[in-house]
Amino acid sequence: MAIDEKREATKRWFRDAKFGLFIHWGLYSVRGEGEWLRSYKKVPEDEYRQQIPGFTAERFDAKAWARLARETGVKYMVITTKHHDGFCMFDAHNTDWKVTNTPAGRDLIRELVEAFEAEGIKVGFYYSIMDWHHPDYLPRMEFEAESRPSEGHDVMDYIAYMREQIHQLMTEYGDAPFVLWYDGGWMNAPEELGAAETNALARKWHPGLLINDRHHTKEDLITPEQRVPATGILDDNGEPALWEGCMTMTSYWWGYDRNETKFKSRGFILRTLIDMVSKGGNYLLNIGPRADGTIQREFTDRMRFIGKWMKKYGDAIYGTTASPFNRLPFYGRVTVSGDTLNVFVFAWPKEGSICLPNLKNNIVSAHLMGRHHALQVFRRSGQWHIKLPDNAPDEIASVVVVKLDGAPDVSPVEIAPNAKGDIPLPVLYGDLTGPHGQRIRYESHEGRAVVCGWYRGPDRISWTFEMPEGGEYALRLKYYAANNEPGLDYQVFVNPEKRPAFAPNGKPWGAEDAKKLFVTEPEFEFVAEPTNGKYRNAVVGDVRLVKGANVVSIVLNDKTDMDALLKLSEEPKRGMRLASAVLLKK
Ligand code: GLC
Repeated sequence: MAIDEKREATKRWFRDAKFGLFIHWGLYSVRGEGEWLRSYKKVPEDEYRQQIPGFTAERFDAKAWARLARETGVKYMVITTKHHDGFCMFDAHNTDWKVTNTPAGRDLIRELVEAFEAEGIKVGFYYSIMDWHHPDYLPRMEFEAESRPSEGHDVMDYIAYMREQIHQLMTEYGDAPFVLWYDGGWMNAPEELGAAETNALARKWHPGLLINDRHHTKEDLITPEQRVPATGILDDNGEPALWEGCMTMTSYWWGYDRNETKFKSRGFILRTLIDMVSKGGNYLLNIGPRADGTIQREFTDRMRFIGKWMKKYGDAIYGTTASPFNRLPFYGRVTVSGDTLNVFVFAWPKEGSICLPNLKNNIVSAHLMGRHHALQVFRRSGQWHIKLPDNAPDEIASVVVVKLDGAPDVSPVEIAPNAKGDIPLPVLYGDLTGPHGQRIRYESHEGRAVVCGWYRGPDRISWTFEMPEGGEYALRLKYYAANNEPGLDYQVFVNPEKRPAFAPNGKPWGAEDAKKLFVTEPEFEFVAEPTNGKYRNAVVGDVRLVKGANVVSIVLNDKTDMDALLKLSEEPKRGMRLASAVLLKK
């Protein structure tokens, strides 16, 4: 097989696999304060090194991890071979800064590869480009600039070091890795580190390899972090791109954090998996084991819960393709298996039925996955509806299997002016986005889906639509704002101009700049004042729409510093819940 065919085969397999396990395990797991410990606590390497005796892996059982992963339903696993601390979890030939020099005393990556592959789970390698240990890695981060001066060091030597390690990782682990999962490339422009050459070598050493996007070169895999892209991701030709959203179950750190108390709910994790898959992506769910090799209950419970669900409903996930619907009038998602729609219902609708909007096929049959009897299907106002039983079979995500008479044929649901000239903007027709650590999401409250978790900026909702002509409109919202905080500040944009992903120096924007999403000015700002425990209907301001394409965005304008911005709060007491929006013709 030629190299490219092998790579295409890996891509096809990856597309179908949908669900993977991310493992952050390293020296930092000993102190258990997250993998960025050195940086955010300004820990000098001498002190950091004191963790070595604690890395025992004494209760580590690779086979047990692999079994747990299989029970979770993942088809692949990605493990940190080297994180930003530069510490190698494999028996690297070119450094002493490695796991074989801890009490664990052996190459843990090798054990993991063997155990996971024996369970039929493919293994990928995470590899940090940024390296806080190697003297020739440049530039220095702020926390180490003084204690580790960069003078006299040559980044070319670091490139050679990195290539040697990648060579070892590509050639000494059999079929693994299926992916070279870079990270920490944001400090350098790709050319500075010879990224293109390194990647070409890696592909030569390991045919069929996939490479991710974090060396900032265009490769196979796009990796949004801690968020769901609103509408999936297309490549330069407008074709569905290969992408994978990675996410923690914790509020922040990827590596073990002994102080963590806030964990994402099972429901949130599972619906996020479905959401990603319905948009054509994969889901890489992270755990951070302890240094002794144990995995905390908060992770294993959630994994088993998902695994149980996957056992019942996995056919609606694995091997499926993205939803043909651009918008759904109920809170749920869709995936496709050939001529069949897998319809996930998150909030059991009060009206007792769901509508599949603008579906042109005939429906051959519909039933709940796992049950046999047929569900009644009917047409109303030219649309297909499916009648549901009184109670949801699954509290988080029930699956309705809808057999069609052919490949799904659906025309888009458009947002448009009604007979009065007003433009309803249902919240479910909006795109929710948070740039990193997305919190904004739908949830059902009092029987309807509302936008919530909207307490950190710049999380936003946007509606995209065409107008036959321009005009002035008043934006009326139905919202709920908690009482115990001062109102939050929101900005409304019409057709905002996005800032490019890279700053003019060719590097990704720094943390400060990243806070700003748009370069254009908002139409207006408003403060969502407390609504005394009720939903309030209020006009919040006026906007001007143009003829043709319009995007209306409501963005939370948050003054919180970047670190706190990335963190997930306890179930928020802050922020607005949005039930509906409408643009009233003036
Ligand atoms: C980030 C972090 C890192 C984590 C990774 C996972 O870029 O620096 O700690 O490993 O994301 O995607």
